Amino acid sequence: MKSRVFSGARPTGRQHLGNYLGAIQNYVKLQDQYDCVYCIVDIHALTTLDNTRELQKNIHEMALDWLAAGIDPKKSIMFVQSHVPEVCELHTILSMVTPLSWLLRVPTFKEKVKQNPGNVNYGLVGYPVLMTSDITLYKADVVPVGEDQLPHLELAREIVRRFNDHFGETLPEPKAQMTAFPMVVGLDGKSKMSKSLNNHIELAMTEEETLKRVMTSVTDPARQFRKDPGHPEVCPIYALHKYFNPLQQENVAATCRTAERGCVDCKKAMAAEINEALKPFRERRAELAAKPKYIDDVLNDGAVRASVIARQTIKEVKQKMGLL
Ligand code: TYM
Repeated sequence: MKSRVFSGARPTGRQHLGNYLGAIQNYVKLQDQYDCVYCIVDIHALTTLDNTRELQKNIHEMALDWLAAGIDPKKSIMFVQSHVPEVCELHTILSMVTPLSWLLRVPTFKEKVKQNPGNVNYGLVGYPVLMTSDITLYKADVVPVGEDQLPHLELAREIVRRFNDHFGETLPEPKAQMTAFPMVVGLDGKSKMSKSLNNHIELAMTEEETLKRVMTSVTDPARQFRKDPGHPEVCPIYALHKYFNPLQQENVAATCRTAERGCVDCKKAMAAEINEALKPFRERRAELAAKPKYIDDVLNDGAVRASVIARQTIKEVKQKMGLL
């Protein structure tokens, strides 16, 4: 039997280069080696959303991005988290073996509390328990994620160990799998690329939007004038060259350091490379966007297939705990 992969992402709408380089490219690659389950985690999104009007649209946009990027519903299961409600049952069960102190020291929780002290809800504290439930409901061994998710994965492993210690070997300990770009820096050059910080480039932007967006990026702040030598290692545009232009990477760095290459030209070249690389993706996305029923069918079929696995795991977990 093949090992299983699980990963998920919050339906924040169209996916950005950080999502793609840090996670989605691995989702696609792993499909040939593993049984893969990919989930649009709408319940997780509720922990921070103050309105849910956009939720269905965001789910649809994200599904389009995933399919256009190469997730193949014939090979992989792709579904919406709330369509398989067993995850909520497992969440409650796992919350009983998770000490509150473990959850209160999770860095993403502390960050969210700082960002929005007025909305520290019970669900937010339990976010990593729900994530552990996602992964273990499908008995996944491998979890492709970006670097920001590693503390959650570590906690998932601890929860699994505690469950197995109490009730006997039942759930596999999941391992994170990262790409060569586990932390893509945003166009502000300071933080990880993220939609909420508005420092991102969406995969589905038009060529013009991409160029405009790239031109807003910071580069090396020490480079005030065209003749100033640059420091490519601090520049978010240079970081993107590493992915989109690996063969020219050394040349780009060298000509930046000697100021032969200016930032404006460098950004224009970068935008052209992103546009070239994303051309097939954008064409496939446009074709898929014309078939909304197909997207619904993929997600419905995914939920049916995911439910079969979920029901088996819940039954086993309940038996182990004496609930059955
Ligand atoms: P989310 O929705 O924030 O991000 C989805 C995936 O994209 C990766 N990512 C990045 N990678 C590199 N550089 C970036 N700038 C960048 N931004 C985002 C994330 O690491 C992630 O892999 N908690 C998860 C969703 C989740 C989940 C799960 C993941 C729920 N249940 C079970 C794995 C397994 C999240 O909020 O991802």
